[in-house]
Amino acid sequence: ATASEPYEVVVIGGGPGGYVAAIKAAQLGLKTACIEKRGSLGGTCLNVGCIPSKAMLNNSHMFHQAQHDMERRGIDVSGVSLNLSTMLKAKDDAVTGLTKGVEFLFKQNKVDYIKGSASFVSPTTISVALNDGGETQVETKNVVIATGSEVAPFPGGGIEIDEEQIVSSTGALSLQKVPEKMVVIGGGVIGLELGSVWSRLGAEVTVVEFLSGIGGAGIDEEVAKQFQRTLAKQGLKFKLNTKVLSAEKRDGKVIIKTEAAKGGKEETFDADVVLVSVGRRPYVTGLNIEAVGVEMDNKGRIVIDDQFNTSVKNIKCIGDVTFGPMLAHKAEEEGIAAVEYIKSGHGHVNYHAIPAVVYTHPEVAWVGKNEQELKAAGVQYSIGKFNFTANSRAKTNLDTDGFVKIITEKETDRIIGVHVIGPNAGEMISEGVLAMEYGASAEDVARTCHAHPTLSEAFKEAAMAAYSKPIHQ
Ligand code: FAD
Ligand code: NAI
Repeated sequence: ATASEPYEVVVIGGGPGGYVAAIKAAQLGLKTACIEKRGSLGGTCLNVGCIPSKAMLNNSHMFHQAQHDMERRGIDVSGVSLNLSTMLKAKDDAVTGLTKGVEFLFKQNKVDYIKGSASFVSPTTISVALNDGGETQVETKNVVIATGSEVAPFPGGGIEIDEEQIVSSTGALSLQKVPEKMVVIGGGVIGLELGSVWSRLGAEVTVVEFLSGIGGAGIDEEVAKQFQRTLAKQGLKFKLNTKVLSAEKRDGKVIIKTEAAKGGKEETFDADVVLVSVGRRPYVTGLNIEAVGVEMDNKGRIVIDDQFNTSVKNIKCIGDVTFGPMLAHKAEEEGIAAVEYIKSGHGHVNYHAIPAVVYTHPEVAWVGKNEQELKAAGVQYSIGKFNFTANSRAKTNLDTDGFVKIITEKETDRIIGVHVIGPNAGEMISEGVLAMEYGASAEDVARTCHAHPTLSEAFKEAAMAAYSKPIHQ
């Protein structure tokens, strides 16, 4: 664009928040550009997050099944072995296919894709250090900051990530050899997903977690307990209430020092690879937001109001770099809403109905409030629970671990939380999200016909249990 024809929207960052915002803006008829420095679109999620991790989770699960779960199904397999480089290539192919797909969508929707690193000159002028060399400046009426997040370093320092022996999720998605012993620092989502991957491929995995339960923020405590039991059966080891003090490379190994979370008992053990997964933090490096005075909070998040406005009038912000859960689908919802605000002054994200999914086996998924939150808030609630052992499809699939738990407001029967641990929980949770979006009662769901035999009948029966009685349990 020249100075006489500025963009209407420039999106900084081509992750799930940014690329979706850019496509939506163009679809709304706004002249749009998206600046991305990575060299490929899709952000953390497509390049080093959601997508490669799910490729490894799926294929490591199949490998594990082929080794340990075929005989009882009447399938005799022998000579099962791992070809890790092919498995890694399948992952890389999934990533490339999808990131190229987003590039194609940009062309189709006429979004200008500017490959380079963006830095504010003024609220309406952005300088871009181009990946191919040189610099350009773009003029725009509106900016959407969607620069995402990065791996949080180990608190207090002292653990250097080299992405080979001491890895973040990025290195853990590309290990060239299955480690004999792996220690995972942090039993949140990344630790459990990637810990599962390497455990299934043969590593002895120990998860060290500071808190008394696994699964990260928002998980229902009852689910977390069953989750831990299930993963332990699969061979993962857990050290809860334990704080890592240091991890140092010595003689080809990593020596890890821990102490009890409350202080006291110290322990030392070694590993071949250590995964540091203690959270992520907002990323604004190089953006020069100081130049325009965009306000940030004490956690480094860009401050926004309920219409995604930053403290600077024409600059909006979405995704991991601002408040809320660091999830791709949350970033996408915000991307759409933010540009709808630009176009029409109206947009919508329902933060009470954003699902969370852990893609282990079984999967764990939830939406809305958990029991401990409701207890703390003094809310009167009812619970309907249905075990997959009583679900016909889970039985036929020989995959019966887990349950559906539906929480309703006692007085009204309105669904206020859904917690699932079980096969396909990540697909099933959408039914809970939809129910909550429409303000459904448990009875509404229970009186909705569900196909037989499906896993989702467990969802219906949990709803029956919440307002009356289930049939099959
Ligand atoms: P990002 O995806 O981080 O994208 C930001 C982009 O901005 C980056 O590509 C960056 O290069 C670019 N950028 C930054 N600064 C500049 C600049 N100055 N100029 C130009 N470009 C810039 N979420 C889920 O919902 N489901 C999952 O299964 C899931 N799995 C995950 C697994 C792992 C291992 C990890 C690490 C994360 C996972 N997440 C998952 C989280 C998810 O990846 C993020 O929530 C999501 O990517 C956030 O999107 P975003 O658009 O806000 O930011
Ligand atoms: P997380 O916040 O989920 O978990 C970090 C865990 O580390 C917490 O349980 C915390 O108590 C623990 N911890 C912190 N410091 C510690 C210490 N010194 N010693 C021991 N334990 C310590 O963060 P994680 O797993 O790094 O993931 C980052 C984010 O990426 C997630 O919050 C999520 O938003 C996103 N993500 C989402 C996925 C999904 O949706 N399936 C998959 C992977 C990541």
